[in-house]
Amino acid sequence: MNVDLDDHLEEARRRIAEAADEAALRAVERAYVDKGGVVAEMLASIPGLPPEDRKAVGVNANRLKTAIQEALEARRSELADAELEARRGARGFDPTVPGTPQRRGSLHPLTQLQRHVEDVFTSMGYLVLDGPEVELDEYNFQKLNIPADHPAREMQDTFWCDRDQHLVLRTHTSPVQIRAMEQLEPPFRTIVPGRVFRNEELDATHSHTFHQVEGLCVAEGVAVGHLVMTLRTALREVLMKDDLDVRLRPGYFPFVEPGFELDVRCPFCADGCRICKHTTWIEFCGCGMVHPNVLRAGGIDPERFSGFAFGFGLDRLAMMWAAIDDVRHFLEADLRFLEQF
Ligand code: DAH
Repeated sequence: MNVDLDDHLEEARRRIAEAADEAALRAVERAYVDKGGVVAEMLASIPGLPPEDRKAVGVNANRLKTAIQEALEARRSELADAELEARRGARGFDPTVPGTPQRRGSLHPLTQLQRHVEDVFTSMGYLVLDGPEVELDEYNFQKLNIPADHPAREMQDTFWCDRDQHLVLRTHTSPVQIRAMEQLEPPFRTIVPGRVFRNEELDATHSHTFHQVEGLCVAEGVAVGHLVMTLRTALREVLMKDDLDVRLRPGYFPFVEPGFELDVRCPFCADGCRICKHTTWIEFCGCGMVHPNVLRAGGIDPERFSGFAFGFGLDRLAMMWAAIDDVRHFLEADLRFLEQF
């Protein structure tokens, strides 16, 4: 008889625990507690039992009933709590709960600076052009007056993309000078910001991937004075320093004649600091008057037109612009660095 009771109770509790809603609970209640259920049957069997067993069966039947009713009660309140919780969640907005902060992204510092540089040059009438990062040897070198056996190739350690050495990862943005000349009729002026690649060891001032801005202006009567004025004006705007000065030193690049290195007066000091290596000047870019061979390679008559060109490192400028001491930061995607901009 006791075994019976335990079996019934175990089975009832299992069904109650599994019940997911009121209907399932009612079914258990009907099967055990209601008229015609297990408990009622136990009670109904009493008159037919031997007199000494009757009391025990009566007590057990009532215990079973109470235990099942308690279990039903507990499960009902559990389900009610869950339903309330679900409705609260579904309603969605609780004005007393602190908000989840939104994480805002920002543009990479090089992108910010590139856009700033583009704004400055477009305000001076420059067109912003783009060119391929995987470039033909012909454009990256030959048409820029650097033939296959030219020692100037030593200056730029190149990633070759094919066995025949026709394709390279461009080592500078200068090949877009040729592409621009092929597409545009002089007079025109253009800048080309872009990514360039060299086979270099990574250190604080060198990287296999970096960014340049090429400049090219072709018209009748273009002279070195225009070049200096243009770069001085642009740099004053970009670095927001009205009295920033520049100077030219002779420099060799096969695609310009004469060629120069342009230095900018150190924006951080008056009489020498670590950044300008105590010289008060910072090397800024290569530049010069476009070589007649290059004009010709671009389909432009050097007897009629002349041009100036320049190419500077955007990473280098960014280091000046935002006082950054290591170019590797630009490629590392470290949020601790990027979130400062
Ligand atoms: N392409 C050169 C380099 O990457 C930089 C340069 C020098 C560009 C002189 C020019 C220029 O347009 O006139 O080292």
